[in-house]
Amino acid sequence: MTRRTRFLGVGSYVPERIVTNDDMAQWMDTSDEWIQSRSGIEQRHWVEPDNTTTSDLGLEAANKAMAASGVTPADLDMILFATLSPDHEFPGTACFLQAKLGCPEIPAIDVRQQCSGFVYALAQADMFIRGGMADTILVVGAEIHSKGMDVSDDGRDITVLFGDGAGAAVLQATEVNDPAEQAHIYSSHLHADGTYAKELWTEGPSMTFAPNRWDNDWLERKAQYPHMNGKTVFKHAVTRMPEVALEALDANGYTVDDVDLWIFHQANLRINYVAAKQLGIEDDDKVFNTIQQFGNTTAATIPIGLDEALKAGKLEPGMLVCIAAFGAGFTWASSLVRW
Ligand code: ACO
Repeated sequence: MTRRTRFLGVGSYVPERIVTNDDMAQWMDTSDEWIQSRSGIEQRHWVEPDNTTTSDLGLEAANKAMAASGVTPADLDMILFATLSPDHEFPGTACFLQAKLGCPEIPAIDVRQQCSGFVYALAQADMFIRGGMADTILVVGAEIHSKGMDVSDDGRDITVLFGDGAGAAVLQATEVNDPAEQAHIYSSHLHADGTYAKELWTEGPSMTFAPNRWDNDWLERKAQYPHMNGKTVFKHAVTRMPEVALEALDANGYTVDDVDLWIFHQANLRINYVAAKQLGIEDDDKVFNTIQQFGNTTAATIPIGLDEALKAGKLEPGMLVCIAAFGAGFTWASSLVRW
């Protein structure tokens, strides 16, 4: 018997407010046709412009994941929270969530790898559990993008792509003697290339600037909004996601045909179509996409995808699931899971 990690349950939450492509077209020079043909996105959910925080969304998803898992906050040994839109610059959003859950003193860790954040957090949780430091870990991916987007024409290339939302998973130690039959995480594979950091980033506020973490033309340059070189991101995403997915399969002696379900990061439907083609996935039904309804929710796309796949009856015990993500940093990562 080998100590491994398994998914006990997942949950997700998106705010009630739906922002359609036609809504976007009222604020900036864009159209439903442009957005759908370039990205596949039909709508996204945004929080109301009030005091809702990322940890509030994370809490909703966490409560659903814990209910699905039959655990309470008292059962948790650790919280890992992946986000690029933290409640505050410090302390970490995991600490705010821990207080809301009412489980003080357990470790609360933020993970800052953007679109790959949930997979990075999954890998860390798996290692904490395999190493014996924890038995039960809550992993959350959550984002509020809407409050930090440029809804003018200047931001149209990026604002139309992003949605708010949260997903969570409860992971638990398990003993495995038949990996092909028993639920567990086989392995995770993490990469980064910081030479591309400024191809997709938000520049400020930043310790680079003095005084007060901004400089004179900061607002004029709109440095508080995300900026992206879309073509470069696209090119790297369609290479790195298939590459890291294959790395996970190779490491465990599986092939593309063995995979029952693919959960890719949801940056752009076209990216996922190209990635699936590169991998030679023949059955479109095995690739589960949610971007049409939710847009890109960054660290939340993977757990939302898992939860939606469960609800849709596409994810069943015993399935081999390959998870892969690519995002800012650049970072890319995969996990191979027996569900
Ligand atoms: N509505 C209408 N027109 C727009 C919009 C918009 N929302 N945004 C940009 N345009 C215009 C551009 O200004 C450009 O006009 P021009 O030709 O007069 O200069 C024109 O549309 C074409 O722009 P391109 O950048 O060539 O469009 P492209 O076909 O490359 O699609 C996109 C842009 C969707 C961003 C694409 O590059 C892409 O998918 N990149 C990947 C990045 C991505 O998905 N990022 C998500 C976040 S990162 C992550 O999660 C990995």
